[in-house]
Amino acid sequence: MKLPRVTGLLTLLISAPLAAEPPPVPPGKLLFEQHGCTNCHGPEGVHPSSKYAPVLRGKSADYLFENAVAIFAGDEKSGKTRFMHEQFCVGEAQEEGCYPPPDTPALRAIANWLGGDAALPEKKRTEPGLYVTAVDAYKRLQEAGDKAILIDIRTRAEVAFVGMPTIAAANIPYMTAGSFDEWDDKKQTFKLRPNSEFTLRVNELMSDKGLDKDTPIYLLCRSGSRSAKAANLLTQAGYSQVYSVTDGFEGDTAKEGPHKGERVVNGWKNAGLPWTYKLNKTAMYWDL
Ligand code: HEC
Repeated sequence: MKLPRVTGLLTLLISAPLAAEPPPVPPGKLLFEQHGCTNCHGPEGVHPSSKYAPVLRGKSADYLFENAVAIFAGDEKSGKTRFMHEQFCVGEAQEEGCYPPPDTPALRAIANWLGGDAALPEKKRTEPGLYVTAVDAYKRLQEAGDKAILIDIRTRAEVAFVGMPTIAAANIPYMTAGSFDEWDDKKQTFKLRPNSEFTLRVNELMSDKGLDKDTPIYLLCRSGSRSAKAANLLTQAGYSQVYSVTDGFEGDTAKEGPHKGERVVNGWKNAGLPWTYKLNKTAMYWDL
């Protein structure tokens, strides 16, 4: 009997569908489909079905979120309620058989997806979905004065040797390097350990400054990964506007060219924003 050939074919048949499994659908895309937003705005929010429905993709996540919330709240002033969402139970469109509108977290997820969340690598994405580049963070902090705050969450060693933004209110490490006595094989550098006091020390800083849980907080790390995790943690702790600075202080590494592997691409320092090696003692992190 020539069994081996049949077995080979069977293996191929069984393994083929597994190999072809599509990547997981982003939650925002799923919600966009489930709520039938695709009916008017097109599957990717790019090709609207009628000339009245605007292209959504490519607009900023914050802009889309704010408009979507206004529209779904039936806000007459938005001027959009009447046209939009005839299929939803909103404003004047309220009628029998209409769909319940998406809730606010669903709109946030949709806005994040449409607004370029997908362009960020997984490790830089956050639950609140509030992102800002170093350049924009600086601009917004200048405008907000003492109504917003920048926290540098890198290790003490980083702020001491690499420098720190002059306008950072404090250095509160999300991870600490201890005494550089543990090795991380995967990252090929010394291991960092989580700082269990992180949230506590942010709480203290905020109350010292007379700021509350709705104050915009901008978190800065080396290149936007630790700040994403820290943003999730502070959001769980009740802060409502925690932004992750996606390119951080040093920026991303170049993927090719003569400076491949070096942090020359973006970030606070490369953008020429103000920073210093002369640290402000009272803004530093001291053990309790
Ligand atoms: C029945 C068709 C229809 C459906 C379904 C629909 N929209 Fe819209 N949407 C529109 C139209 C038309 C406008 C433009 C209204 C205006 O500007 O007055 C709009 C505008 C918007 C805007 C504002 C965009 C801007 O640039 O100002 C956002 C955000 C939005 N829709 C999100 C959504 C989401 C999210 C869903 C699904 C939950 C959805 N829409 C479902 C028709 C629709």
